[in-house]
Amino acid sequence: MSVAELTENLLDPGLFPAEQGPPHHLFDKWRAADPVHWNPENPEYVNAMPGSSGVRGFWVLTRYKDVFDVSMNQELFSSYENGIVVWDFEGQELERQRSNFMSMKPADHTAVKKVIMPPFMPRALAEIAPVIEKLAAEIVDSIASEGHCEFVFDVASRLPIVTFCELMGIPEHYRDAVADCGNAMADVENRTNASFDPTMKLFGIAQELAEEKRRNPDGRLLSAMVNDTTLNLDPMAINQFFVVFAMAGHETTRSTAVHFINLMNRFPDQCALLRSDFDAHIDNAIDEVLRFTSTTTNFTRTATADTEIGGHAVKKGDKIYLSYAAANRDPAVFEDPHRFDITRANAKRHLAFGAGPHICVGARLAKMQLRALLGQIVSRTPDIHPVGEPEWLRSVWFNAIIRMPVEFTPEQGR
Ligand code: HEM
Repeated sequence: MSVAELTENLLDPGLFPAEQGPPHHLFDKWRAADPVHWNPENPEYVNAMPGSSGVRGFWVLTRYKDVFDVSMNQELFSSYENGIVVWDFEGQELERQRSNFMSMKPADHTAVKKVIMPPFMPRALAEIAPVIEKLAAEIVDSIASEGHCEFVFDVASRLPIVTFCELMGIPEHYRDAVADCGNAMADVENRTNASFDPTMKLFGIAQELAEEKRRNPDGRLLSAMVNDTTLNLDPMAINQFFVVFAMAGHETTRSTAVHFINLMNRFPDQCALLRSDFDAHIDNAIDEVLRFTSTTTNFTRTATADTEIGGHAVKKGDKIYLSYAAANRDPAVFEDPHRFDITRANAKRHLAFGAGPHICVGARLAKMQLRALLGQIVSRTPDIHPVGEPEWLRSVWFNAIIRMPVEFTPEQGR
């Protein structure tokens, strides 16, 4: 394979750091001439996900409509067949993936979703709102008088971790370990070098807690899962559920907060506009940051029959890469899509949370956390700005900044 082909391969974990995000020039090129683009396997990409059997080639969907339509159709484009990530799995490992809520058979997925949805509904979220507001204030208290910090881990990662632990009913003494594991899980490319196996460690914590919740139900999410007699989930399903939430509920929200601050620095006019009337602009600004950055850049599906996508033939068993990043910059839906505009009228139409039966259950919660945290930051450290170039995660999956030192005028007399 030539160098040119490799640098155009989405299975190159150096691509996002090199481009400071998803490779939009490639997506634009493909969308214009080859919108359902074949991404071949990458023989250089050997550092695959632990437990996976490899990574084969896949069809990349670059048009909004195709990503949306495929996401809506579980029968033809399955999350169950081969899981939802670019890495392939076989045998027991595939079974393990399938016990994950996100890759269950549609009927099982619907049943579990019914049990886990209540804490994510508006009424429950309104109850937890004051807790989130208080946590956001405490996090900013801890840095505001300092004048500098490392934004990713000193600030952005803390709120989603504590919120997730509150939601699940995870006691305080487990929280640092859960946070470390969530971070290590997201860092797929370095996971094999880590001094511990984050999946196994989270499984251990999940089982200890499940035991505790069986003895002392507390009405929180993990307790609901463990004690629901209609579901009778086996220990592996509980483990996987725990792992999914530790990663899905944390890394994504953290990265969106980091991108938000980075973008406000890159686009001072947008920052000034936000500061001129925070309440009027913040909700749309969060959607625009989600659209513009697509922290979770992709999930995958597998075709269950020979079919076509947007007029392009795909075969039974083919893997389909839903590029949320490309869809969110499709000019057919978003005018001048590479412009960052917090007043964009249709920013909310983004697919950063996916679509269809597997649409993100935590979307409202994520937005609520972002609003609380950014409210504190914009009002108390208004001149916050990165120092030097932020460091991007090496990843074929997440568009994430993993180190961003920042400075700001220290807050006085609080
Ligand atoms: C900015 C923050 C977030 C982003 C960008 C994001 C992104 C996504 C995306 C793209 C999906 C679709 C998966 C698919 O179609 O296969 C998804 C699903 C999911 N997300 Fe999020 N997410 C975020 C925050 C959260 C939070 C805060 C939680 C929970 C505390 C959460 C829990 C989940 C779960 C459980 C699913 C699986 C839903 C299903 O398969 O039915 N996410 N997320």
